[in-house]
Amino acid sequence: MNSFSKRVSPSIAPGESTKTEIKTLKKHSSKNTHPTEAHGKLERLECSKCGETYPHTVPQNVCNTCGKPLLARYALEQLSGTWTRDTLLSRPASLWRYSELLPISDPTDIVTLGETMTPLLRTKRLGAKFGLPEVWVKDESRLPTGSFKARGLAMAVSKAKSLGLTQLAIPSAGNAATALSVYAAAAGITAHIFMPQDTPAFNKETCHLAGANVTLIDGLINDAGRIVAERKAREGWFDVSTLKEPYRVEGKKTMGFELAEQFGWELPDVIIYPTGGGTGIVGMWKGFAELEAIGWIDKKRPRFISVQSTGCAPIVKAWEEGATEATPWQDAHTVASGLRVPQAIGDFLILEAIRKSNGAAIAVSDDAIREAMQLLTTTEGLLTCPEGAATVAALKQLVANGMIQPAERVVLFNTGGYQS
Ligand SMILES: Cc1ncc(COP(=O)(O)O)c(C=O)c1O
Repeated sequence: MNSFSKRVSPSIAPGESTKTEIKTLKKHSSKNTHPTEAHGKLERLECSKCGETYPHTVPQNVCNTCGKPLLARYALEQLSGTWTRDTLLSRPASLWRYSELLPISDPTDIVTLGETMTPLLRTKRLGAKFGLPEVWVKDESRLPTGSFKARGLAMAVSKAKSLGLTQLAIPSAGNAATALSVYAAAAGITAHIFMPQDTPAFNKETCHLAGANVTLIDGLINDAGRIVAERKAREGWFDVSTLKEPYRVEGKKTMGFELAEQFGWELPDVIIYPTGGGTGIVGMWKGFAELEAIGWIDKKRPRFISVQSTGCAPIVKAWEEGATEATPWQDAHTVASGLRVPQAIGDFLILEAIRKSNGAAIAVSDDAIREAMQLLTTTEGLLTCPEGAATVAALKQLVANGMIQPAERVVLFNTGGYQS
């Protein structure tokens, strides 16, 4: 284990330093994980394409002029030099610890189910298999609802509550639907879910348990998105689709904040991330820029490797063609339901992050994903979702192609837990 990870919150090598994890967790949980403070320095929303600005005090989906995603902008100059990394030490180990760079300013608006800081696990046997001494897994399966979707929906529902919204609608590949359903239930907000008929049973059942209005459609997430878009005005719903709602990405960026903190504020060399709608990559890329602007990290960025399935790889195709936007993927199919996203509204943002970070986009087969799920469990004891396992399948290709060097620190994102 490197010197950074020894002194930071939950980052451990399985079987090696469990004590370190327990100790650091205790330190951070001296307060419980419920956030009691919010110091949000949100200033405005800004179009990611044309730069037009919007107030954050009223509900807004995308840019009225160009229809592209809006991004939250904070008073970074004010925070630089005044908000220090040491402040974090006395705050609970949850994503709410970064409250200055989150969009909620009144703590009573926070809707939380205990979004714990997820562990950064240093692999022993998996990394060794590929000749890499530093392969880490950021294990998002520990979050409420068992996936990283909790981060984005905790933020979106909290913001919706602060804006007085009572009806939220979402097109989903599955895990976002589960997350919206439970956070909305906790907030006393009604959730309207639209997802494919063959969405995993876990997601369908959990949405029903949470009392959401669920519609299963004969089609994919993009078809579900069209239904929400057509009906939302008539029904009085607010659309919380990926990147058509400005705050889910704010929750996702905390994956990058945690990673920076867990690595002692020196980012790893490579991040391998399973990509559907792309909020994870877009969020972390944005989060790193904010950390640099307030002086917490330097210019160095990890190379972002976006992983998709060979059955649905619009970002990979665009990347290989050198395009700045992706074309919709036809006949999308894959065992990794979260990667079955034929078209992403934030495609240009994902591609920009990959390109600017000197990263790459890579497709892996369903067989390789299944094999990787087994490999992760047999080598590290980690039970993962297919999307998380896809990063291991990608790692294998990247090492074979010489795109990752043995001295590099590599982080795989396991975005969710195993579901039968
Ligand atoms: C487990 C899992 N991993 C990855 C993804 C893709 O995430 P993103 O939208 O950030 O690209 C999803 C999306 O549904 C998912 O459920």
